[in-house]
Amino acid sequence: MDHFLYKNGVLHAEDVAIPEIAAAVGTPFYVYSRATLVRHFRLFDEALKGMDHLVCYAMKAASNVALLKVLAQEGAGMDVVSGGEYARAKAAGVPGERIVFSGVGKTREEMRMALTGGIRQFNVESEPEMDVLNEVALSLGVVAPITVRVNPNVDAKTHAKIATGKSENKFGIPIAKARDVYARAAALPGLKVVGIDVHIGSQLTDLEPFRMAYRKVAELTELLRADGHEISRLDLGGGLGIPYTRSNEAPPLPLDWGQVIREEVGHLGCQVEIEPGRLIAGNAGLLVSQVIYVKEGEGRRFLILDAAMNDLVRPAMYDAHHDIVPVMEPAPGVEEAPMDVVGPVCESGDTFAKGRDLPPVAAEDLVAFRSAGAYGAVMASEYNTRPLIPEVLVDGDHFAVIRARPSFDEMIKRDTIPEWL
Ligand code: LLP
Repeated sequence: MDHFLYKNGVLHAEDVAIPEIAAAVGTPFYVYSRATLVRHFRLFDEALKGMDHLVCYAMKAASNVALLKVLAQEGAGMDVVSGGEYARAKAAGVPGERIVFSGVGKTREEMRMALTGGIRQFNVESEPEMDVLNEVALSLGVVAPITVRVNPNVDAKTHAKIATGKSENKFGIPIAKARDVYARAAALPGLKVVGIDVHIGSQLTDLEPFRMAYRKVAELTELLRADGHEISRLDLGGGLGIPYTRSNEAPPLPLDWGQVIREEVGHLGCQVEIEPGRLIAGNAGLLVSQVIYVKEGEGRRFLILDAAMNDLVRPAMYDAHHDIVPVMEPAPGVEEAPMDVVGPVCESGDTFAKGRDLPPVAAEDLVAFRSAGAYGAVMASEYNTRPLIPEVLVDGDHFAVIRARPSFDEMIKRDTIPEWL
């Protein structure tokens, strides 16, 4: 459930009419609903109620500092994957002890930043990384808390570009090697092993792969404990999928996922961390765009929008489906017709949907892409010198611009012409 509904025939974000925001900030723009973000976060928090747990929002999904602050106020931790994300989390007021650092390529500088600013744990992904982190920690005179991310070799049954739990993926260490790797970690004085980490992929709509991965993690926990390691924390990753269509999709809910977690690892007495991103932010955001032209092609009709692949890359990159709806509610029973929904960027990949059945739309109408709150704004680029579009946060009957659209001057000023030119 989200808070983007038609009221009196006009699409609203909570109690604010979308056209009102469009008039204030121009199009295209992203708009988020605070109530939806909070609701989604609480679903996870409640799913693990009774267990010692921390929900670390995977902020790669949507990382505007205002959104982070909404979640931080709910008690969320953060899963960060770069120095930039770490800095954002801190800027949103998240204490270091609620930040976990994931990613296969952490640099010395990023390690230093987190060790001095405070960190709950590093999820270490390789032996070379372990050595470097050990060195950096010793040079600072501190001990780095770590989990090792294991690759359970489980098929997540999701899009190949976002599956991470098979041995052919670059993530984690093979679970079969885990005992050796933990023995090495325990011998490094700059590291303190605190647990195990696993994440098998994103947009998972079946709980079985989670169950298989967590079962392997539970077995490994027993083995490592028998080897004398203190395994007090399990980071079970993120990846729970969301419905991208309004029709018949009903992926498992956070509560169902929580049940799998209880069943598979509940007996171990570990503190549990999870890293959901998409489910918290995805359906908490829309991309709103204006129709520039309706163009009649040969046997096709093109809806040319002012949003493009640089603003929302998921359709071009993963053939992802986003529902597209008119902001003015179509009359009941109105006839739909197939359209190719495209942006103005000069390549055919700049296509949001092909042959999508849509109610009649005309130039200057507003349309909204649903489920665009996660991996939307964060993956945007300035391709074609199109400015990064504004982000807006709605809370009840008011809204605020949480990132303004830069002017062309501001964009161009970031380039410098060398003196000798
Ligand atoms: N933890 C780790 C270590 C991750 O790599 C990810 C996502 C998450 C948590 C959060 O997963 P989520 O709950 O959001 O599924 N750009 C792609 C998605 C990439 C996901 C990468 N890792 C997309 O637009 O579909």
